[in-house]
Amino acid sequence: MSDIKKEINTLLATFSEQLSEVETEQELEEIRITFLGRKGKLTELMGQMKKLPIEKKRELGPLLNGLKRNIEQQFAQKKKGLANAERKAESLRQQHFDVTAYKPGALKSSLHIYTQIIEQIEDIFISMGYGIADGPEAETDYYNFQALNIPADHPARDMQDTFWLNMPDMLLRTHTSPVQVREMEKRSAPIALIAPGRVYRHEATDASHDFMFSQVEGLLVDKNISMSHLLATAKTFLQKFFEKKDLDIRVRPGYFPFVEPGIEIDFSCAFCSSGCSICKKTGWIELMGAGLIHPNVLKYAKIDSEVYSGFAFGFGIERIAMIKHGINDIRLFHSSSIDFLKQF
Ligand code: DAH
Repeated sequence: MSDIKKEINTLLATFSEQLSEVETEQELEEIRITFLGRKGKLTELMGQMKKLPIEKKRELGPLLNGLKRNIEQQFAQKKKGLANAERKAESLRQQHFDVTAYKPGALKSSLHIYTQIIEQIEDIFISMGYGIADGPEAETDYYNFQALNIPADHPARDMQDTFWLNMPDMLLRTHTSPVQVREMEKRSAPIALIAPGRVYRHEATDASHDFMFSQVEGLLVDKNISMSHLLATAKTFLQKFFEKKDLDIRVRPGYFPFVEPGIEIDFSCAFCSSGCSICKKTGWIELMGAGLIHPNVLKYAKIDSEVYSGFAFGFGIERIAMIKHGINDIRLFHSSSIDFLKQF
Protein backbone atom coordinates (compact mmCIF):
# COMPACT_ATOMS: atom_id res chain seq x y z
CA MET A 1 0.00 0.00 0.00
CA SER A 2 1.35 3.45 -0.92
CA ASP A 3 2.19 5.96 1.80
CA ILE A 4 -0.68 8.20 0.85
CA LYS A 5 -3.20 5.36 0.98
CA LYS A 6 -1.91 4.54 4.48
CA GLU A 7 -2.21 8.18 5.48
CA ILE A 8 -5.80 8.31 4.17
CA ASN A 9 -6.73 5.33 6.36
CA THR A 10 -4.98 6.69 9.47
CA LEU A 11 -6.49 10.13 9.00
CA LEU A 12 -10.00 8.70 8.73
CA ALA A 13 -9.44 6.50 11.79
CA THR A 14 -8.09 9.34 13.95
CA PHE A 15 -10.82 11.68 12.79
CA SER A 16 -13.59 9.16 13.63
CA GLU A 17 -12.05 8.41 16.98
CA GLN A 18 -11.60 12.05 17.99
CA LEU A 19 -15.06 12.97 16.71
CA SER A 20 -16.65 10.26 18.84
CA GLU A 21 -15.25 11.95 21.93
CA VAL A 22 -16.64 15.37 21.10
CA GLU A 23 -19.29 16.63 23.54
CA THR A 24 -19.49 20.35 23.00
CA GLU A 25 -19.75 22.79 20.10
CA GLN A 26 -16.39 24.18 21.09
CA GLU A 27 -14.68 20.76 20.83
CA LEU A 28 -16.38 20.23 17.47
CA GLU A 29 -14.98 23.49 16.20
CA GLU A 30 -11.49 22.48 17.33
CA ILE A 31 -11.81 19.24 15.33
CA ARG A 32 -13.00 21.17 12.30
CA ILE A 33 -9.92 23.37 12.46
CA THR A 34 -7.55 20.38 12.96
CA PHE A 35 -8.94 18.33 10.07
CA LEU A 36 -10.88 20.57 7.71
CA GLY A 37 -9.30 23.97 8.31
CA ARG A 38 -7.07 25.81 5.82
CA LYS A 39 -3.99 24.38 7.45
CA GLY A 40 -5.76 21.19 8.53
CA LYS A 41 -4.66 17.58 8.03
CA LEU A 42 -6.99 16.93 5.08
CA THR A 43 -5.94 20.05 3.20
CA GLU A 44 -2.32 19.09 3.80
CA LEU A 45 -2.89 15.60 2.37
CA MET A 46 -4.66 17.06 -0.68
CA GLY A 47 -1.66 19.37 -1.14
CA GLN A 48 0.70 16.41 -1.19
CA MET A 49 -1.24 14.94 -4.15
CA LYS A 50 -0.47 17.91 -6.35
CA LYS A 51 3.17 16.86 -6.49
CA LEU A 52 2.36 13.30 -7.68
CA PRO A 53 2.59 12.07 -11.34
CA ILE A 54 -0.64 12.04 -13.31
CA GLU A 55 -1.40 8.29 -13.07
CA LYS A 56 -0.98 8.33 -9.30
CA LYS A 57 -3.33 11.28 -9.18
CA ARG A 58 -5.91 9.27 -11.08
CA GLU A 59 -5.68 6.44 -8.65
CA LEU A 60 -5.58 8.45 -5.42
CA GLY A 61 -7.86 11.36 -6.47
CA PRO A 62 -11.15 9.47 -5.99
CA LEU A 63 -9.86 8.02 -2.70
CA LEU A 64 -9.04 11.46 -1.34
CA ASN A 65 -12.37 12.85 -2.51
CA GLY A 66 -14.09 9.93 -0.80
CA LEU A 67 -12.15 10.67 2.39
CA LYS A 68 -13.18 14.30 2.24
CA ARG A 69 -16.84 13.42 1.72
CA ASN A 70 -16.71 10.87 4.50
CA ILE A 71 -15.15 13.31 6.94
CA GLU A 72 -17.59 16.09 6.02
CA GLN A 73 -20.56 13.75 6.37
CA GLN A 74 -19.47 12.51 9.79
CA PHE A 75 -18.83 16.08 10.84
CA ALA A 76 -22.29 17.28 9.71
CA GLN A 77 -23.96 14.36 11.46
CA LYS A 78 -22.14 15.10 14.73
CA LYS A 79 -23.08 18.73 14.48
CA LYS A 80 -26.74 17.82 14.06
CA GLY A 81 -26.51 15.38 16.97
CA LEU A 82 -25.08 18.03 19.29
CA ALA A 83 -27.74 20.56 18.30
CA ASN A 84 -30.50 18.00 18.93
CA ALA A 85 -29.08 17.13 22.34
CA GLU A 86 -28.95 20.81 23.27
CA ARG A 87 -32.56 21.33 22.14
CA LYS A 88 -33.68 18.35 24.20
CA ALA A 89 -31.84 19.57 27.28
CA GLU A 90 -33.37 23.02 26.85
CA SER A 91 -36.88 21.62 26.52
CA LEU A 92 -36.31 19.52 29.63
CA ARG A 93 -35.21 22.64 31.46
CA GLN A 94 -38.34 24.46 30.27
CA GLN A 95 -40.59 21.56 31.29
CA HIS A 96 -39.30 21.68 34.84
CA PHE A 97 -39.68 25.42 35.20
CA ASP A 98 -42.75 25.87 37.35
CA VAL A 99 -43.92 29.45 37.24
CA THR A 100 -46.12 28.92 40.29
CA ALA A 101 -43.27 27.55 42.38
CA TYR A 102 -42.40 29.38 45.61
CA LYS A 103 -40.03 28.63 48.40
CA PRO A 104 -41.97 28.34 51.61
CA GLY A 105 -40.32 29.89 54.61
CA ALA A 106 -38.09 32.27 52.64
CA LEU A 107 -37.81 35.45 54.71
CA LYS A 108 -37.80 38.88 53.14
CA SER A 109 -35.01 41.01 54.54
CA SER A 110 -35.55 44.49 55.89
CA LEU A 111 -33.73 47.13 57.87
CA HIS A 112 -33.81 46.66 61.64
CA ILE A 113 -36.63 48.66 63.23
CA TYR A 114 -33.99 50.58 65.18
CA THR A 115 -32.33 51.70 61.91
CA GLN A 116 -35.69 52.57 60.36
CA ILE A 117 -36.63 54.78 63.31
CA ILE A 118 -33.25 56.54 63.36
CA GLU A 119 -33.57 57.26 59.64
CA GLN A 120 -37.06 58.70 60.16
CA ILE A 121 -35.85 60.91 63.01
CA GLU A 122 -32.81 62.06 61.03
CA ASP A 123 -34.93 62.85 57.95
CA ILE A 124 -37.26 65.06 59.99
CA PHE A 125 -34.45 67.01 61.65
CA ILE A 126 -32.49 67.30 58.41
CA SER A 127 -35.63 68.82 56.84
CA MET A 128 -35.55 71.43 59.65
CA GLY A 129 -31.92 72.30 58.83
CA TYR A 130 -30.18 70.20 61.48
CA GLY A 131 -26.94 68.28 60.94
CA ILE A 132 -26.12 64.80 62.27
CA ALA A 133 -23.27 64.32 64.77
CA ASP A 134 -21.62 61.31 66.33
CA GLY A 135 -19.56 60.79 69.47
CA PRO A 136 -17.62 58.00 71.21
CA GLU A 137 -19.41 55.38 73.29
CA ALA A 138 -16.36 54.96 75.53
CA GLU A 139 -16.38 58.43 77.02
CA THR A 140 -14.43 60.38 79.61
CA ASP A 141 -15.78 61.46 82.97
CA TYR A 142 -15.17 65.02 81.78
CA TYR A 143 -17.53 64.95 78.77
CA ASN A 144 -20.13 62.62 80.26
CA PHE A 145 -20.44 64.51 83.58
CA GLN A 146 -18.15 67.42 84.43
CA ALA A 147 -18.56 69.51 81.29
CA LEU A 148 -22.31 68.96 81.61
CA ASN A 149 -22.27 70.70 84.98
CA ILE A 150 -22.23 67.44 86.97
CA PRO A 151 -19.10 67.65 89.15
CA ALA A 152 -17.57 64.58 90.82
CA ASP A 153 -19.56 64.82 94.05
CA HIS A 154 -22.86 65.85 92.47
CA PRO A 155 -25.84 63.72 93.53
CA ALA A 156 -27.19 63.85 89.94
CA ARG A 157 -24.55 61.23 89.09
CA ASP A 158 -26.77 58.73 90.87
CA MET A 159 -29.50 59.33 88.29
CA GLN A 160 -27.39 57.48 85.75
CA ASP A 161 -25.77 54.29 87.06
CA THR A 162 -22.49 54.07 85.28
CA PHE A 163 -20.39 51.30 83.75
CA TRP A 164 -16.85 52.42 84.61
CA LEU A 165 -14.08 51.10 82.40
CA ASN A 166 -10.78 49.71 83.61
CA MET A 167 -9.06 52.93 82.63
CA PRO A 168 -8.79 56.10 84.69
CA ASP A 169 -11.80 58.40 84.25
CA MET A 170 -13.24 56.35 81.39
CA LEU A 171 -16.80 55.05 81.22
CA LEU A 172 -19.46 53.87 78.79
CA ARG A 173 -21.47 57.01 78.14
CA THR A 174 -24.72 57.07 80.09
CA HIS A 175 -26.40 59.50 77.69
CA THR A 176 -25.76 61.18 74.33
CA SER A 177 -25.48 64.63 75.96
CA PRO A 178 -21.63 64.58 75.92
CA VAL A 179 -21.84 64.99 72.13
CA GLN A 180 -23.26 68.49 72.82
CA VAL A 181 -20.03 69.60 74.45
CA ARG A 182 -17.77 67.87 71.93
CA GLU A 183 -19.60 69.51 69.02
CA MET A 184 -19.79 72.97 70.63
CA GLU A 185 -16.02 72.79 71.16
CA LYS A 186 -15.44 71.85 67.52
CA ARG A 187 -17.84 74.27 65.81
CA SER A 188 -18.69 77.87 66.21
CA ALA A 189 -22.27 79.11 66.72
CA PRO A 190 -24.83 78.94 65.21
CA ILE A 191 -25.08 75.18 65.69
CA ALA A 192 -28.08 72.92 64.98
CA LEU A 193 -27.56 69.20 65.23
CA ILE A 194 -28.86 65.92 66.53
CA ALA A 195 -26.69 63.05 67.75
CA PRO A 196 -28.27 59.60 67.79
CA GLY A 197 -26.38 56.72 69.39
CA ARG A 198 -26.07 53.97 71.96
CA VAL A 199 -25.86 54.61 75.69
CA TYR A 200 -25.27 52.29 78.65
CA ARG A 201 -26.62 52.14 82.20
CA HIS A 202 -25.70 49.76 84.97
CA GLU A 203 -29.30 48.86 85.71
CA ALA A 204 -31.45 45.80 86.29
CA THR A 205 -33.42 45.13 83.13
CA ASP A 206 -37.17 44.80 82.75
CA ALA A 207 -39.68 45.43 79.96
CA SER A 208 -38.96 49.16 79.97
CA HIS A 209 -35.34 49.33 81.20
CA ASP A 210 -32.24 47.95 79.54
CA PHE A 211 -28.51 48.12 80.22
CA MET A 212 -27.97 49.32 76.65
CA PHE A 213 -30.32 51.51 74.67
CA SER A 214 -30.21 54.50 72.32
CA GLN A 215 -30.92 58.17 72.56
CA VAL A 216 -31.13 61.17 70.30
CA GLU A 217 -29.56 64.32 71.62
CA GLY A 218 -30.62 67.60 70.04
CA LEU A 219 -28.82 70.90 70.25
CA LEU A 220 -29.40 74.39 68.93
CA VAL A 221 -27.16 77.36 69.71
CA ASP A 222 -27.66 80.83 68.29
CA LYS A 223 -28.40 84.37 69.36
CA ASN A 224 -31.70 84.99 71.21
CA ILE A 225 -32.76 81.37 71.48
CA SER A 226 -35.64 80.96 73.92
CA MET A 227 -37.94 78.32 75.29
CA SER A 228 -40.47 79.02 72.53
CA HIS A 229 -37.97 77.80 69.90
CA LEU A 230 -37.51 74.58 71.85
CA LEU A 231 -41.23 73.97 72.21
CA ALA A 232 -41.96 74.69 68.55
CA THR A 233 -39.16 72.35 67.48
CA ALA A 234 -40.33 69.53 69.75
CA LYS A 235 -43.91 69.93 68.61
CA THR A 236 -43.03 70.00 64.90
CA PHE A 237 -40.84 66.93 65.27
CA LEU A 238 -43.52 64.96 67.12
CA GLN A 239 -46.25 65.96 64.66
CA LYS A 240 -44.12 64.75 61.76
CA PHE A 241 -42.91 61.59 63.46
CA PHE A 242 -46.40 60.46 64.49
CA GLU A 243 -47.93 61.91 61.31
CA LYS A 244 -50.56 63.76 63.32
CA LYS A 245 -51.14 67.47 62.69
CA ASP A 246 -53.23 68.18 65.78
CA LEU A 247 -50.75 66.59 68.17
CA ASP A 248 -50.09 68.85 71.16
CA ILE A 249 -47.32 69.08 73.75
CA ARG A 250 -47.31 69.73 77.48
CA VAL A 251 -44.43 70.92 79.63
CA ARG A 252 -43.55 69.95 83.20
CA PRO A 253 -40.55 71.16 85.19
CA GLY A 254 -37.66 68.70 85.15
CA TYR A 255 -34.21 68.70 86.67
CA PHE A 256 -31.11 68.12 84.54
CA PRO A 257 -27.91 69.88 85.68
CA PHE A 258 -26.93 70.85 82.12
CA VAL A 259 -30.05 72.93 81.39
CA GLU A 260 -31.68 75.84 83.17
CA PRO A 261 -34.61 75.86 83.23
CA GLY A 262 -35.01 72.12 82.70
CA ILE A 263 -38.28 70.66 81.50
CA GLU A 264 -39.92 67.41 80.55
CA ILE A 265 -42.03 67.37 77.43
CA ASP A 266 -45.08 65.13 77.08
CA PHE A 267 -47.25 64.89 73.97
CA SER A 268 -50.94 64.28 73.54
CA CYS A 269 -51.63 60.61 72.87
CA ALA A 270 -51.42 59.98 69.14
CA PHE A 271 -53.52 56.82 69.44
CA CYS A 272 -56.70 57.77 71.26
CA SER A 273 -58.91 60.68 72.21
CA SER A 274 -60.24 59.42 75.50
CA GLY A 275 -57.42 57.40 77.11
CA CYS A 276 -55.87 54.08 76.12
CA SER A 277 -53.26 51.63 77.40
CA ILE A 278 -50.40 53.46 75.62
CA CYS A 279 -51.08 56.74 77.45
CA LYS A 280 -52.19 54.85 80.55
CA LYS A 281 -55.59 56.50 80.27
CA THR A 282 -54.06 59.96 80.87
CA GLY A 283 -54.17 61.22 77.28
CA TRP A 284 -50.47 62.23 77.58
CA ILE A 285 -47.23 60.36 76.83
CA GLU A 286 -43.93 61.30 78.48
CA LEU A 287 -41.04 61.44 76.10
CA MET A 288 -38.17 63.84 76.45
CA GLY A 289 -36.01 65.87 78.77
CA ALA A 290 -35.01 69.30 77.55
CA GLY A 291 -34.20 72.85 78.51
CA LEU A 292 -32.11 75.90 77.82
CA ILE A 293 -28.40 75.13 77.89
CA HIS A 294 -26.89 76.03 81.26
CA PRO A 295 -24.39 78.93 81.01
CA ASN A 296 -21.79 76.72 82.74
CA VAL A 297 -22.04 74.19 79.90
CA LEU A 298 -21.60 76.95 77.32
CA LYS A 299 -18.58 78.12 79.30
CA TYR A 300 -17.06 74.61 79.29
CA ALA A 301 -17.59 74.53 75.51
CA LYS A 302 -16.00 78.00 75.18
CA ILE A 303 -19.13 79.65 73.84
CA ASP A 304 -19.84 83.16 75.10
CA SER A 305 -23.07 82.84 77.10
CA GLU A 306 -23.49 86.63 77.03
CA VAL A 307 -23.92 86.48 73.26
CA TYR A 308 -25.34 83.04 72.60
CA SER A 309 -28.01 80.88 74.13
CA GLY A 310 -29.40 77.55 73.11
CA PHE A 311 -31.65 74.66 73.85
CA ALA A 312 -30.99 70.94 74.16
CA PHE A 313 -33.20 67.91 74.38
CA GLY A 314 -32.79 64.16 74.67
CA PHE A 315 -35.08 61.17 74.31
CA GLY A 316 -34.89 57.40 73.98
CA ILE A 317 -35.05 55.92 70.49
CA GLU A 318 -36.40 52.56 71.63
CA ARG A 319 -39.02 54.35 73.70
CA ILE A 320 -40.33 56.40 70.77
CA ALA A 321 -40.27 53.27 68.57
CA MET A 322 -42.17 51.31 71.24
CA ILE A 323 -44.82 54.03 71.40
CA LYS A 324 -45.16 54.21 67.62
CA HIS A 325 -45.34 50.47 67.02
CA GLY A 326 -46.89 49.18 70.24
CA ILE A 327 -43.78 47.20 71.24
CA ASN A 328 -44.09 46.05 74.83
CA ASP A 329 -40.55 45.01 75.79
CA ILE A 330 -37.42 47.12 75.19
CA ARG A 331 -35.19 44.03 75.32
CA LEU A 332 -36.69 42.80 72.03
CA PHE A 333 -34.57 45.36 70.15
CA HIS A 334 -31.36 43.39 70.61
CA SER A 335 -32.94 39.97 71.03
CA SER A 336 -32.46 38.98 67.36
CA SER A 337 -35.88 37.37 67.59
CA ILE A 338 -37.05 36.65 64.03
CA ASP A 339 -40.71 36.80 65.07
CA PHE A 340 -40.13 40.30 66.38
CA LEU A 341 -37.94 41.53 63.50
CA LYS A 342 -40.08 40.27 60.64
CA GLN A 343 -42.96 42.54 61.67
CA PHE A 344 -41.08 45.58 60.39
N1 DAH B 1 -29.32 63.24 78.99
C1 DAH B 1 -30.64 63.11 79.61
C2 DAH B 1 -30.87 61.67 80.03
O1 DAH B 1 -30.23 60.80 79.56
C3 DAH B 1 -31.71 63.54 78.64
C4 DAH B 1 -31.70 64.99 78.42
C5 DAH B 1 -32.41 65.82 79.28
C6 DAH B 1 -30.97 65.55 77.42
C7 DAH B 1 -32.41 67.17 79.13
C8 DAH B 1 -30.93 66.92 77.24
C9 DAH B 1 -31.66 67.72 78.12
O2 DAH B 1 -30.25 67.50 76.28
O3 DAH B 1 -31.66 69.05 77.93
O4 DAH B 1 -31.73 61.44 80.83
